[in-house]
Amino acid sequence: MHDQFDHKKDAWSARFSEPVSALVQRYTASVGFDQRLALFDIDGSLAHATMLAEQGIISRDDLAAIGRGMAQIREDIASGRFEWKLELEDVHLNIEARLVQLVGDAGKRLHTGRSRNDQVATDIRLWLRDAIDQIAAQLRALQRALVDLAAQHADTVMPGFTHLQVAQPVSFGHHLLAYVEMFGRDGERLRDARARVNRLPLGAAALAGTTFPIDRLRVAQLLGFDGVCQNSLDAVSDRDFAIEFTAAATLVMLHVSRLSEELVLWMSPAFGFIDLADRFCTGSSIMPQKKNPDVPELARGKTGRVAGHLMGLLMLMKAQPLAYNKDNQEDKEPLFDTADTVLDTLRIFTDMVGGIRVKPEAMQRAALQGYATATDLADYLVKKGLPFRDAHEVVARAVRLAVDRGVGLEALPVAELQGLCPLIGDDALDVLQLRGSLAARDHLGGTAPNQVRAQVARWRGLLDAA
Ligand code: ARG
Repeated sequence: MHDQFDHKKDAWSARFSEPVSALVQRYTASVGFDQRLALFDIDGSLAHATMLAEQGIISRDDLAAIGRGMAQIREDIASGRFEWKLELEDVHLNIEARLVQLVGDAGKRLHTGRSRNDQVATDIRLWLRDAIDQIAAQLRALQRALVDLAAQHADTVMPGFTHLQVAQPVSFGHHLLAYVEMFGRDGERLRDARARVNRLPLGAAALAGTTFPIDRLRVAQLLGFDGVCQNSLDAVSDRDFAIEFTAAATLVMLHVSRLSEELVLWMSPAFGFIDLADRFCTGSSIMPQKKNPDVPELARGKTGRVAGHLMGLLMLMKAQPLAYNKDNQEDKEPLFDTADTVLDTLRIFTDMVGGIRVKPEAMQRAALQGYATATDLADYLVKKGLPFRDAHEVVARAVRLAVDRGVGLEALPVAELQGLCPLIGDDALDVLQLRGSLAARDHLGGTAPNQVRAQVARWRGLLDAA
């Protein structure tokens, strides 16, 4: 071994006649952000070394030395003592250089049959697998919080909207469960993407495979991969798995942003449906009365940030020829930021949903103001034999009458309603009530409180089993 070991020089610079400029060094280095992969890089290296020793490519002594060195490096990283060097470019060369410093020639043998190209692809997949598991678990926690709130509000009536105009009364629990469904599909997408993330690129080496008698299935087994990438050129170059994850993450944020928009609206005094706990809001430096829903607003804004990362990754991959290109180094920051943003957002929302104060009287008042039971009256007439289109017209006239008088439909005298259509009887009053309207939609997927309770039970079962 050299007395003065210069890892970067020995890694590749023997081929070059001049060093890179300081600017090029800074421009090309990734250690500032890819050091986040360190523990996964070590896991990958240990699995690789184990396989090399089992195959007789390196000695058992070398493997033991590598294991010792890596244990030390792990400790140094955990305690913040590890010294990251920009001139060593990335996480891989930093760790390898330190390993050689600690254990000598055994450390230099670690890179046998391997390249940074398959190494980095392996690291990102290991990192992303872990990130997906954390996000999926947090998604379930948010679903649980929403289900718990829905369980308390199966019987709470609110106006359901289309075009943001009062449409028909719905159960507030039913409304919340709509988001549980959305987040449920997000979980399915993440699980689906994970299956394609969880395949081993290592063994592809730089691009063509290696001349050593490696056992890739063994490495896959050691690292908990479900399978191996079957083509070396594809293994080192494509980042579609990262794009797929980011697309799934964008949909998570999109659903969060829809919920955010509703929380902002509902908290506005014009609606007054809910109040958010103070710890998620801020005041104004000029208007003393203000309590602003900062957290949902920010989450709505961060949706754009994550969608931007998706665009960035798509453009990064576009038109790259086979196999590895340095372009791919640019995959990490958007990927890391996507996972961080989604995980933080889901954590904060889980807490926030648990602290929502619901104002059922305000919801009820709003539902009464919007002629939300007009469809129920039309359905009533249909059940009495009137064709639906005719019933629609009768009720439209009744609504006009009520609007002119400034009252609700239920306040119109039955005699007057009978003037519009003789089929209307005293029992029409029942269907004009919010509760009756709600309870009548009693089928799978409907808003009847019975159905809401059944869905709450269904989701609790699903979430407990996950
Ligand atoms: N830092 C690089 C990346 O993130 C590692 C692979 C570099 N390979 C190479 N041949 N330059 O992609």
